[in-house]
Amino acid sequence: MATAQQLKALIESFTENNPDRFLSVASQIAAHAARSGKEKLAQDLLKLIEQARRASNASREASQVVPITQPTGELSGLVSAAFPKTRLTDMVLPTAINHRLKRVLVEYRQSDRLQLHGLSPRRKLLLLGPPGCGKSMTASVIAGELHLPLLTVQFHTLITKFMGETAAKLRLVFDAMAKSRGVYLFDEFDAIGAHRQAGHDVGEIRRVLNSFLVFLEQDESGSMIIGASNLVEMLDAALFRRFDDVLHYGMPTRDMAKRLIVSRLAAFKSTRWQWKPTLAAAEGMSHADIVKACEDAAKEAVLADRDTIRPSELRRAMLHRRTPTGKPC
Ligand SMILES: Nc1ncnc2c1ncn2[C@@H]1O[C@H](COP(=O)(O)OP(=O)(O)O)[C@@H](O)[C@H]1O
Ligand SMILES: [Mg+2]
Repeated sequence: MATAQQLKALIESFTENNPDRFLSVASQIAAHAARSGKEKLAQDLLKLIEQARRASNASREASQVVPITQPTGELSGLVSAAFPKTRLTDMVLPTAINHRLKRVLVEYRQSDRLQLHGLSPRRKLLLLGPPGCGKSMTASVIAGELHLPLLTVQFHTLITKFMGETAAKLRLVFDAMAKSRGVYLFDEFDAIGAHRQAGHDVGEIRRVLNSFLVFLEQDESGSMIIGASNLVEMLDAALFRRFDDVLHYGMPTRDMAKRLIVSRLAAFKSTRWQWKPTLAAAEGMSHADIVKACEDAAKEAVLADRDTIRPSELRRAMLHRRTPTGKPC
């Protein structure tokens, strides 16, 4: 039989509408059955899982045929499209950010009601904070929750590839927002700052930024526009004012680190985590690094054919995620 932990993980994955996690937990239950000598049950489960996986892939492929296709023509190379299934419940966030994201989703879903009263939903968001704390993931969540495609614009590419004609390219992207509704993510705004420092043509970068601000202000497309940056201090103060909401992300607290570990390793048998040393090892690591360390420890357990994670292994994985100086990467 499945362990209590596995059953909990199974139900959670159903609530989260996360079929990948559901099937992965189901596979672990099958493996557990096989190890306990219940060969027939294990075989039956594996057959059902295989059928479910095939059905899920087929429906995923069908659901990707949405009005927006991959950007073509001049837009290709500037914008990349994805159809994330990520949910807000997949994220571990401070309560305040969680509330503000929920408000964004509610306002967008109820845009018609707001517009009847001459109000517009929050559509232009600026996400700031250190790397690996969930800024890009937030854009995926908004796309996933609102069933919109995620269109990522790499500012870096925009600037380096199209020096001299960047503003015109930017215009193309803003025109596309009106034609194809989606979540448009301008990732790594800091490319602008980095370029300024690297001695690139400052005039060009200023022009790009100014065009961006004008387009952003004029935009009435109905698409969501999200800017994300790691380097807050390099951003122009003028940028902040043009967004409807500015969210500041930070490194995880101990409680958040604990929630991340529990949710990432929920598929494994309950472990005495020895929270004190484990959370001490996670101190100063970003969400992304903690998640990667959990995955490293999970892989080690799976390959050793175990359904438990050893806390010492997780701590070692965390240590490996740090640079030789002992600081997080
Ligand atoms: N707040 C979070 N909650 C859960 N997982 C997170 C969170 N932040 C980051 N992660 C994990 O780290 C990965 C990278 O995070 P990402 O959103 O790209 O960070 P950023 O854009 O802030 O640099 C995500 O795909 C996810 O697996
Ligand atoms: Mg990012």
